[in-house]
Order: sequence, then C-alpha cells, then structure tokens
Amino acid sequence: MKYIVAGNWKMHLTHSEVLNLALELKESLIEQSRKIDIFVFPPTIFLKDVQDVLFGSLIKTGVQNMYFQDEGAYTGETSPLMLKSINCSLALIGHSERREYFKEDDEMLRYKLLACKKWDILPILCIGERLEERESGKTEDILASQITKALDKTEMERLVIAYEPVWAIGTGKTATPRQAQEAHAFIKKLVKHIMEKDVPVLYGGSVKVENAKELAREKDIDGFLIGGASLHKESFVKIVNEFIRMKNL
Ligand code: PGA
Repeated sequence: MKYIVAGNWKMHLTHSEVLNLALELKESLIEQSRKIDIFVFPPTIFLKDVQDVLFGSLIKTGVQNMYFQDEGAYTGETSPLMLKSINCSLALIGHSERREYFKEDDEMLRYKLLACKKWDILPILCIGERLEERESGKTEDILASQITKALDKTEMERLVIAYEPVWAIGTGKTATPRQAQEAHAFIKKLVKHIMEKDVPVLYGGSVKVENAKELAREKDIDGFLIGGASLHKESFVKIVNEFIRMKNL
C-alpha cells in the first residue's frame, strides 16, 4: 500500500494560475513522486490541461466530483465515461461540500462508487462528522453509517478513504493527532471487515505546514487530502516533504 498526499484545489484559481501551479509541482516533486503517490484535483474545466502539463511526471490528476450515469440529459454533470476518454482514473467522491451544498446523500454516493468500479476509477470516498456530532459522542456512529451505506453491496475492489472532520475543513481547526488516529483506526477496522482488505485512509481538514509533522507521525494516517495549503507550491511541497520524512521513506 502506497502513501498518498493529495491536493484538492476546489473552486479556486484561474486557468493560467492552475497551469502555473501544476508546472511548479511537476518541477518540484520529481523525487517525492517516486516515493509516494501525489494526486491533484483541479477544477473540472481545467482537468485536461493540467493532465497535459503533468504529462511525463508521476503526479496523477483526478476529478473533484463525477456523476454516476454513463451519459444522458444531466445538465452540468461529468460522467465516468467522459473521464475515461481523457484517461482520468481518479475521483473524489462525497466530499463534505458536495454533501452539504449539493445534497449528495449516501445512496447517491453508493451509485457513484459503483460507477467508479464499473469504469475502473479509483474513488477517494470522503467521510467525516460534524461538530455537534463529535460533541455528542456520535463520531463513530456517523463514520460507520457513512461507510456502511456507501459501500453497501458494492463489493469494491479498490478504495481510498479520506477522513475529513467537517468542523476542521477550511476552518483552521485541525483534529488533534490523537483524535485523527482514533478515527483512522476505527475506519480501517470497519473497512477491513467489509472489504476484507486494507485501504489507505487519508486525513483532511486544515492540514498545514505547521501540523503536518505531528499528524504524519500517527501510524494509521496514510496520507493527506489538503485543501487551502495545496493552492501554493511552497506549502504543498513542504507538507509532502514533511510527510515523507516522518514516514522514513
Ligand atoms: P482544507 O480542506 O485543507 O482547506 O481544510 C480540506 C478538504 O476539504 O479536502
């Protein structure tokens, strides 16, 4: 199982800014991308151009969201068939912003996982509890419910999970290494029970240069999914380097 550090660029940056960032990462992460998997998730409109810039490097480009139908009258959506036609085989599924603002529920995410399986796209399924759920001691119930509903009868062969506590995303608040480790251990045990294999579990939620080291030290943190700090070459590269150093790679 390879470690993964991923950048989710969300709905940020213009065309030229995205291409500059991709080029800077290509030039700065040559050695690192031999040791760990490095993924970037640009806005869909720039996906193909980023792939072109990254051609010849080991950094992989994925989509932040996709629909589950192969084609049809679904205005504004992107299908797995379209992604495969540009050799994109990597997708974020169920990011908390998709769940919250675009009302994606567990049933829809289950269909999306099935579409990933059908088209051999590696899904990074994002899960995480809200603040009130954590404070009322329901974190494990929520995580278990999100996992079991999304994976129900999917018999997934390939999967990555990103644990992203909703209260830590874009807020500057980070789960403590201990909170993250506990959640990761719980997720791994449950997913192993369902899939009968180990899957990487990434931590996301205000990962920064300042906290990357202590989070990377935790044994069940297999990588990061980084939002804000992935928008700048300096911070993204520093986090990648810190992660590699802490894992002794
Ligand atoms: P953040 O976002 O690092 O800006 O908190 C993480 C994410 O949403 O993937």
